[in-house]
Amino acid sequence: MKGELIILKLGGSVITFKNSFEKANLKVLRRIAGEVKEAIGDKRLIIVHGGGSFGHPHAYKYKLHLGFRASSQLPGVLETHMAMEKLNKIVVEEFSSQGLPTFPFQVSSSTLTSNGEIVLFPLNPLRRMIELGIIPILYGDVVFDRQLGFCILSGDKICSFLAVFLKASKLIFICDVDGVYDSNPKLKSPSKFYEKLSLDELKLLLRKFKSFSSSLDVTGGFYSKLVEASKAVEKGVNVLIVNGLFPGRVSAAIRGVDFIGTRISVK
Ligand code: IPE
Repeated sequence: MKGELIILKLGGSVITFKNSFEKANLKVLRRIAGEVKEAIGDKRLIIVHGGGSFGHPHAYKYKLHLGFRASSQLPGVLETHMAMEKLNKIVVEEFSSQGLPTFPFQVSSSTLTSNGEIVLFPLNPLRRMIELGIIPILYGDVVFDRQLGFCILSGDKICSFLAVFLKASKLIFICDVDGVYDSNPKLKSPSKFYEKLSLDELKLLLRKFKSFSSSLDVTGGFYSKLVEASKAVEKGVNVLIVNGLFPGRVSAAIRGVDFIGTRISVK
């Protein structure tokens, strides 16, 4: 197979308006799709997107992140998945209309977790797609779980899993912040921005941080993203965190030149 493999996570806070129910940010999505098209060259690519104002409100309403508690949650399992399918269709259409060969990939009916961790994942069809030059587009969703009944599998968890098992060279998290700070930039002005972090430095920060999550984020927000990042870095994957709301930053992250954001690597 030719070309390095890149995994790109489109954060829900970038591709949707987090405070407007089921509203995609088409302008940003289209611009990012254009940047991917421009920068991708002969690299192989997997795209994973988050839930934003599509998946999170439904999952939160039915408390799906707590696992199965009562049958009254069951309509929410379908509702959450349907909302994610809607968003996935929008994402797939935006990338395909740039002329990129995309294909949707559903984890809800193909992946099993145990206490929220992936224990079964159909890597072979995904490998076959990328061998053919197809860009699979996956998304965080409800999945069925050995212990919990079901849970919400975040796009970030899917990304770290795929990055490790498919030996990606780079995992790029596209967010609505510039990268990693020493405190939550949305709550107070931070004193330090990290352009580079080693695995050890990231682990120290993780110990220091409390969760940056908002109450409506059922998958733990930025803190959980960094936990997933550390899992990938531990296995030799370079992780880049980049602000997708600024034009040019996603293409720079893919090309690896003039990159603005946080770069996390083993050393
Ligand atoms: C969440 O995925 C999916 C659902 C809520 C169903 P993510 O956790 O990756 O979503 P974002 O990027 O934070 O919105």
